[in-house]
Amino acid sequence: MTTYSPRTEQAPPYTESATIPKDRYISAEWLAAEYERLWPRVWQMACRLEQIPEPGDFHEYTVGRRSILVVRESESAIRAFHNACPHRGTRICAGTGSTGDELRCPFHGWGWNLDGSVLEVPDADDFAPGTLSRADISLTPVHTGLWGGFVFVNPSPDPEPLLDFLGPVAAGLAPFEPDRMRLVRHRTTVMDCNWKVGLAAFNEAYHIEATHVWDLSGYASGTRPASGGPAGTPAPPAERPRVRDGQGRTPGSYQFHYETYDTHNLMRNVPELLDGSPRLGELGDPRKAALGMLRSSQSIGLSHQDDVDYVEALDDVPADVPSVRFLTDVRRASAALRGVDFGHIPDEDMIAAIDYCLYPNMVGPISAGNWILFRFRPNGDDPDTCLFDVMFLHRFGDDEQVPAVRHEFYPTWEDHDGWGEVIGQDLSNMGHVQAGLHQSSFTALRLNRQEAGVRNFERFVDRHMSGEPAAG
Ligand code: FES
Ligand SMILES: [Fe+2]
Repeated sequence: MTTYSPRTEQAPPYTESATIPKDRYISAEWLAAEYERLWPRVWQMACRLEQIPEPGDFHEYTVGRRSILVVRESESAIRAFHNACPHRGTRICAGTGSTGDELRCPFHGWGWNLDGSVLEVPDADDFAPGTLSRADISLTPVHTGLWGGFVFVNPSPDPEPLLDFLGPVAAGLAPFEPDRMRLVRHRTTVMDCNWKVGLAAFNEAYHIEATHVWDLSGYASGTRPASGGPAGTPAPPAERPRVRDGQGRTPGSYQFHYETYDTHNLMRNVPELLDGSPRLGELGDPRKAALGMLRSSQSIGLSHQDDVDYVEALDDVPADVPSVRFLTDVRRASAALRGVDFGHIPDEDMIAAIDYCLYPNMVGPISAGNWILFRFRPNGDDPDTCLFDVMFLHRFGDDEQVPAVRHEFYPTWEDHDGWGEVIGQDLSNMGHVQAGLHQSSFTALRLNRQEAGVRNFERFVDRHMSGEPAAG
């Protein structure tokens, strides 16, 4: 593990060689090679368990042309299969749904049990002898692994154990009990960038000042507003909020701590923010300030209505308490009212943005009770677009009603205006990155200390791309 604490005068300078040639983001050949070398042999999240709650429920996971059918066989058993009928190849199930107690090909009606074994071949005696061995016409299994309420799949014939792969990520997320969270919103859209460009936008904090504090998105697009945010007319330079520290560093430098592992990485707010944050009274009316912060984080799923209700019901909101300390206490207390105990989570972790990048394609901040998870997948043969999933997870109390989740799909990210201000600002950059990557003047990314996770991610990609193409 390599640790990058906030920059200080004493800290050693960042010296890693960190240029990344651009072809991996724009080349159709590179994308084709990823389909051969990377995706066939890596664990990847297919769905949440609550998306397939009953035996017979299925979810189709796709990456490029590969389609994997995840099926709940029983209350305790999950199976996955290559999604192709052994007769003439038909995809057996698409999307998400229920297939009852059997799988059935829609074309000629071949049937399988939920464990993939053959149930029925209509008119089997019309096939030549030897063409219907049970081994050949069972569904071809794909390795599955369960962790944190997620179903992971790995098309490799001999994958490493899922928990070995997740390693420090599973350990770091364990206190937040992701297995006890539930999916509350799931949105998918097509982004105007390579899947690795999208992931990288959430895998560093260097962009925070320009993208989120100043909201410069309107400059790049001329008219396009940050989705869900203000009208896309950034403040002129003299009016931009001052967020730099005494050394002139931006928040990504002094407010964040970074760790990289063999695989995966972490960035998180420094614990000092808990009591070093501005006092509520410094932000105006204390109640309005607290509610403003809560509603902003609620718009991106990092706070819940319970926190808002709790603050609104308070007789008094103190002016002299650091804002992050106050909101931490609110989270603990509002959760306790719902029967959720966060007593084992330290104060400095309760509402920090603890942001793990789960290789190869997920990233997103978690706090006590809430998690936004972003997943990126390549989009067919087009290196310039990708599929982007946003999954909002929330921890409910045992007696609380968990709402049913409707999957929303938007053909482009601009077809939806409810991403939340912060996420909208992130999304607004991506197409401009992809456009710039194609310019002949630009040859390679230059990454800094705050972007060590992006650097680490590309090392992971390189490890796969330098291997042999995978079979299957
Ligand atoms: S293609 Fe599936 S039964 Fe014929
Ligand atoms: Fe961002």
